[in-house]
Amino acid sequence: MPDQSDQRKEGGARHPLDRERTLEPEGTEAPPLWLWIVIFSVAFFGAYYMGAYMGDFSADPHYMYRDRVASVAEETEVVAVDGAQVYTQRCQTCHQADGEGVAGVFPPLNQATQWVTGPEGRPIRILLHGLGGELNVRGETYNGQMPAFGQLNDEEIAAVLTHVRQSWDNDASEITADQVAAVRDAETDRTDPWRAEELLTEERSTVPGAASGSADEPAADE
Ligand code: HEC
Repeated sequence: MPDQSDQRKEGGARHPLDRERTLEPEGTEAPPLWLWIVIFSVAFFGAYYMGAYMGDFSADPHYMYRDRVASVAEETEVVAVDGAQVYTQRCQTCHQADGEGVAGVFPPLNQATQWVTGPEGRPIRILLHGLGGELNVRGETYNGQMPAFGQLNDEEIAAVLTHVRQSWDNDASEITADQVAAVRDAETDRTDPWRAEELLTEERSTVPGAASGSADEPAADE
């Protein structure tokens, strides 16, 4: 920058430029009022928006709105029960991945025609209350203890039974959550594990309230 003070002195005591207010260096002027207004409105809107929609910055914001998504979520859960997955988690250690069980200890679920693929009431009762005592499966006698799985919900029991009834060489009808619920209701007083003889009776083979005859029930209404 050329030094202006030399110039100013030349013309006498008061150079006209001295009477002007010195200019601020460019770029450091205060922003105009309208710009402040814009800046604050944007900041205010931004803060409001995050407060309203960021779910309190929680890691699972949808959980906060579970009332609003409840109807959708419930449906998804029911549909999401995967019989194969329940089998892997709950049954496979004993009955094995191929459904062949362990000879003499855990009976096979594959082609266990009297039990797995027999009338719906039998496998449902076995899962709800367990099974003990002498049992004949595919010509072999077992005498073990099958634990009860009554703590699983109706959908899970229906899904895992449908899975075993339609896996390997099995090809039987599906079992619905309504059927499980009907048996559960009818057997609320039962606490002991079933014995094979009991399950072979007509009364314990069927699902209460089901249409007479081994009805291939109308398509599940899901
Ligand atoms: C702790 C080992 C164990 C687990 C886990 C187990 N079972 Fe069993 N299961 C047995 C035994 C033992 C028997 C035979 C009981 C007897 O001898 O009276 C049996 C019998 C059965 C029977 C009737 C006999 C047959 O072979 O068809 C069915 C059906 C059955 N289990 C299904 C299941 C399903 C489905 C699951 C998973 C939800 C499961 N079991 C989990 C041990 C088990």
